[in-house]
Amino acid sequence: MSTTESSTPLAASVLVIDDEKKLAGLFAEILEGEGLTVHMAHKGGDGLAKLDEYIDEIGMVFTDMKLPDMTGNDVLREVKRRRQDLPVVVVTGFATKDGAVEAMRLGAYDYLSKPFKIEEVTLVARRALERSRLIDENRYLQNELLNRYKFETVIGDNEKMQAAYVTAAKVAKSNATVLITGESGTGKEVLARAIHFQSTRAEKPFVKVNCAALPEHLLEDELFGHEKGAFTDASSQRIGRFEWAHGGTLFLDEIGEVAPGVQVKLLRVLQEREFERIGSSKTIKVDVRIVAATNRDLQRAISDGTFREDLFYRLNVVPIELPPLRERPSDMPFLVNHFLKKYGDETGRPDMKVTPEAMEALKHHNWKGNIRELENSIERAMILAERDEIEPRHLLIGASLNSGNSYMPNAAVSNALPTIAELITKALERTGGDEKAAATMIGCDVKNLRAWKE
Ligand SMILES: Nc1ncnc2c1ncn2[C@@H]1O[C@H](COP(=O)(O)OP(=O)(O)OP(=O)(O)O)[C@@H](O)[C@H]1O
Ligand SMILES: [Mg+2]
Repeated sequence: MSTTESSTPLAASVLVIDDEKKLAGLFAEILEGEGLTVHMAHKGGDGLAKLDEYIDEIGMVFTDMKLPDMTGNDVLREVKRRRQDLPVVVVTGFATKDGAVEAMRLGAYDYLSKPFKIEEVTLVARRALERSRLIDENRYLQNELLNRYKFETVIGDNEKMQAAYVTAAKVAKSNATVLITGESGTGKEVLARAIHFQSTRAEKPFVKVNCAALPEHLLEDELFGHEKGAFTDASSQRIGRFEWAHGGTLFLDEIGEVAPGVQVKLLRVLQEREFERIGSSKTIKVDVRIVAATNRDLQRAISDGTFREDLFYRLNVVPIELPPLRERPSDMPFLVNHFLKKYGDETGRPDMKVTPEAMEALKHHNWKGNIRELENSIERAMILAERDEIEPRHLLIGASLNSGNSYMPNAAVSNALPTIAELITKALERTGGDEKAAATMIGCDVKNLRAWKE
């Protein structure tokens, strides 16, 4: 698995537009005191020119409402035309205080009325820049994912798999709720992202919630957020994932694991597209497309009484089922080539091939972990193979590691399989002794790697 880390540039400059030079100077002093870079202009037009010049660097704008050449709201409109999500704070005096309402309607982040306190300036600047940073980060991650999706999806020849992607492409254009089912590792999340990035919502956030990872009260908090003071630990307000996903797609992973209390709440959002933050009576409306996924048989969960039938019907508007890998052996060469290419560069072995015997073994293996297991197996085999050829024994999918359906006869395999120690030694060789990277390659915890090594 790739472990490349990248960071987003932090837009930490502030643009201040104010014709009163003394006041502009005061802003600069306060903000520079906070370690921020300040660009100053005394006219609206000059301010916009500065914005164009430093567009990648400026993280927020303060503009006075009354400027010699234009109003603060004109500046606001122009800023929004250049960068829709750049936070703008409008500064109003007594004579221009009515303009604040209009400014908020036009999408100002906030307003400051003169006279203001120093703390008000620093607080609003900090909050606005943090928001800018999150937006930047989100945009950056979206791009990353978009690129990823381009390279990472193999569809293959299998009819069921093709049907799944055709349905996904069709449904991407609508706002319909999608329920993806399939065994673990069959590519449910990959498909959910494919739907999002083909949809008209592609530029908006794709937000994932793993419903199985959190106990009931935390999941509720994660989904809907809370107001300050809603419960003992709620020292500040928190925006939930439904709000984060506004305009985009919310991916509810492992939906079959949601507790009954949260199921009721989800039902309401699915029906009404509205909810309240915990501890608040204010109703929030959101525009999100829901894609849910599960590896559980929900029909069975309904008869067991663990999943609400009404929620199931709300989710199951467009059902898509992904086939298990063992049912699509003819796709094996496509997938294997894809992973050979993917890890060829990473492991410095771009010419790696799979012998016909190894391909047969791959086609006949049971693949309980589906594509994820295949991917791990290929990556590992590329480390283990001495030459540019992956043989059956490099795959570690023999009987001694997988109970149940196995292609290779027991005895032949257990002799040929490398021991864990050999595996670790090879991985360490390839990573130049980097234990962390070696652990990632083998797919084990670094602690285990150290323990096994000894
Ligand atoms: N169509 C595909 N083409 C290439 N790689 C894929 C494809 N589908 C899945 N994969 C790979 O398999 C791995 C597992 O996929 P994914 O996380 O989408 O599975 P999942 O069904 O959500 O599994 P789980 O139920 O365990 O969460 C991914 O890391 C991805 O690299
Ligand atoms: Mg998943």
